[in-house]
Amino acid sequence: MLHQGDALKELKKLADDSAQVIIADPPYFNVLEDEAWDTQWKTPEAYLAWCEKWVGQCLRVLKEDGLCFIFGQLGKREHTFLHLMSRLTQQHSFHDLIIWDRAVGYNERRDSFTPQYEMILVLRKGETVKFNKNAVRLPYSAKTITEYLRDTRYKDLKARKEHLKMGKYATNILRVPSLKGMHKEKVGHPSQKPLRLIHKLIACSTDPDDLVLDPFLGSGTTAIAAQALGRRWIGIERQPEYVKMARQRIKSQSLPTTREKGTVKKTKD
Ligand SMILES: C[S@@+](CC[C@H](N)C(=O)[O-])C[C@H]1O[C@@H](n2cnc3c(N)ncnc32)[C@H](O)[C@@H]1O
Repeated sequence: MLHQGDALKELKKLADDSAQVIIADPPYFNVLEDEAWDTQWKTPEAYLAWCEKWVGQCLRVLKEDGLCFIFGQLGKREHTFLHLMSRLTQQHSFHDLIIWDRAVGYNERRDSFTPQYEMILVLRKGETVKFNKNAVRLPYSAKTITEYLRDTRYKDLKARKEHLKMGKYATNILRVPSLKGMHKEKVGHPSQKPLRLIHKLIACSTDPDDLVLDPFLGSGTTAIAAQALGRRWIGIERQPEYVKMARQRIKSQSLPTTREKGTVKKTKD
C-alpha cells in the first residue's frame, strides 16, 4: 500500500510491532545537490535530529525480531552519515554494517580513490532476529567446484555435490551493480536502487506474507521486490512525481533478475 505524505507523519499512523523489515533509503543530506529533497536541511544538526525522529518511529513499528536497514552515502564534502551511525547506535541496537559494493565507481575525484560503495546500517529491536542465510547464497565458480570435487578428503561425493550446488553464504559486502546509463530498470529517479539489492535484503529478513515497510519509497523499488517475493508492503513517499512513478512501475510489475534460492514467486528476464 502506497501512502503519499511525509514519512514522519505517516509513520506515526502505523501500529507498533507490525513490520518485519524496514528498508529506509532516506535523503543523504547534501550529496545530491540538484535535488531539493536532499538539500532541505540548513545544518547537519537539523538533518541528524530529523533522522533520529523517523528512525525512532521505525523502531516502534518494527517487530521484536525484525531488522531495520538504513542506507547512507558519504560524499567528499559530506560525511554526516558517520555521525548518524554513531548517534543511532547509541540509541538503538547495532546489528551489522553492510557495504553495498556498487561494482562501478561514481562521482570521480582526483584527490582520492574512486568512490564505489554505499553503506547500509542495520539496526535490530530485540536480542534475536529473523534471518535466513540460505535465502541469499552465491554460486561457486566452475573452477572452485572442480577443485573441491577433486579433493580426496571428501569421501561422500554426492553430498559434496549437493552442498556445492547450493552455493556459498553471502558476505556483508553485497556486490550488486548500480543502475548506470541506459539500464533497463531505470525509470528516472535520481537515486533508484537496483531491485537485486533490495530483493536480497528482503529475502534474508522475512518470510512470505511478512510486512515490509519503506518510509522513502522513491520509484517503488522496495514494493516491487516485496511483491515479487510474496511479501506485503507499505511505502511512503512525499513527492507527487515519484508517487506517480512508483504507481506506474508497480502496475507494470518489473521483476528482478535473481539467482537467489528459495522464495521468489515470479521472475522475468
Ligand atoms: C534516496 S531516495 C529513495 C529511492 C528509492 N530507494 C528507489 O529505489 O527509488 C529518497 C526519497 O525520499 C523522498 N523523501 C524526502 N523527504 C521525504 C519525507 N520527509 N517524507 C517522505 N519522503 C521523503 C524523496 O522524494 C526521495 O524519493
